[in-house]
Amino acid sequence: MAKTKYNRIGLLLLGVGIYVGVVAYILTPKEKLQMPTPYSFPVSYAPDYMNIPIDNPMTEEGVELGRHLFYDGRLAGRTHKDSLMSCATCHKQTHSFECGIDHPKFKGGKTFGLTGVPTPHTMMPLINLVWINEGYMWNGFVNNNNTQLGGKYGVPEQEEFHYKNIESFVWMMIVAPHEGNGSIEKSVDLIRSDSLYPPMFKKAFGTEEITIDKIEKAVAQFVRSLVSFNSKFDQFMRGEYQLTESERRGFFLFSTESGDCFHCHGSPALPLWTTNLFLNNAKDSAFIDKNDYSSVTKNPADKGKYRVPTLRNVEYTAPYMHDGRFATLDEVLEFYNSDLKRSPYVDPLMIGVNHGGMHLSQQELQDLKAFLLTLSDTSFLTNPDYSNPRPNDEFFIQ
Ligand code: HEC
Ligand code: HEC
Repeated sequence: MAKTKYNRIGLLLLGVGIYVGVVAYILTPKEKLQMPTPYSFPVSYAPDYMNIPIDNPMTEEGVELGRHLFYDGRLAGRTHKDSLMSCATCHKQTHSFECGIDHPKFKGGKTFGLTGVPTPHTMMPLINLVWINEGYMWNGFVNNNNTQLGGKYGVPEQEEFHYKNIESFVWMMIVAPHEGNGSIEKSVDLIRSDSLYPPMFKKAFGTEEITIDKIEKAVAQFVRSLVSFNSKFDQFMRGEYQLTESERRGFFLFSTESGDCFHCHGSPALPLWTTNLFLNNAKDSAFIDKNDYSSVTKNPADKGKYRVPTLRNVEYTAPYMHDGRFATLDEVLEFYNSDLKRSPYVDPLMIGVNHGGMHLSQQELQDLKAFLLTLSDTSFLTNPDYSNPRPNDEFFIQ
């Protein structure tokens, strides 16, 4: 009997001990272990192969930090108001993250850097880039198979530096003479000097330490988050919008060999509205540009080839083509209609080339344009998640 009683008291004491221990543990202040929240894309209708490097998974906190850095004019390593330059100086949300033809500083859409040196090509929009696996830039120089070390676009040769993915654009922007023309050390120091950043780096990467590697990763996460699947045409596909007669006729021309655009620029089944292939679309018969696709592949057969650009939001991305030679969509359509030039490099899919163009009627050209305008997604241009997070901060520019 006595033995059982002692057992009970023992158990009771043990119970009380555990209880007190647990309460004490709960009440002790500790540093919270915070894991960043995995980012989920707000779209349901999209191709599935995403170009996200294994060492830079997207998180809510990383994207938000990247958004700040994207708009921070100190990224180019300067603080004077006339020499601030951010990604958003050139890549503007109102123009599908291109600069647009009506930019007050970059007249006609011709961008240049802090030293006045022009960029080799006109701009490209930043839209749905996470689905591009074929290589970034007009000539595909930045791609996952790139083994070339620095040394292009005025960037000093870096022993370990390969331009492989969106992360690389940060380094390029900071040091390239036609963009920031600055130094990585100065840029990182300036980002470190803002007391709002260390907690944001901590949330995104688990440590307050600010490095160029983390800056690159965060900016790339933000750029990958820029996705658009809410154009009028997307709404039509979802049964939420009826195409007008003209838009419908334009869609037909686009998608058949009468207009012959779909081979290169996609279809409802390729909703990026580009194949992302590098092709020659018969603009010239002589080729002088040293930065075309052949400069990357070292294959002379690739002369005059450039990445087929997306036609999403093409309404806002004038001037058109890698050299910005066309100011309006009407000029582009007139070119495809009657001004194709022969050369040994023209893509065989350019089926109108032997007749100089498609030779559509004026009405058909208007219809084609009406269809192209259904690819505009104005919600992308105004999405608050993509906008300047600190519009009243003197360093945050757009
Ligand atoms: C001085 C203007 C300018 C600034 C500043 C700038 N860019 Fe660009 N960006 C361009 C131009 C021009 C191109 C097209 C380059 C080419 O293909 O020759 C481009 C292309 C790109 C592309 C490739 C898009 C594609 O479809 O392949 C990405 C990604 C990009 N920029 C990201 C950035 C980021 C991130 C920043 C900030 C760190 C930045 N850019 C700053 C002018 C600029
Ligand atoms: C053989 C493939 C091919 C065909 C067919 C083709 N394109 Fe293109 N398109 C391209 C390439 C490549 C470029 C970029 C060329 C450059 O920058 O020099 C381009 C550029 C464009 C641009 C400029 C976009 C921008 O942001 O600069 C528009 C608009 C366009 N094409 C519309 C059309 C239309 C409309 C048709 C049908 C009438 C068509 N394309 C047929 C390959 C093609």
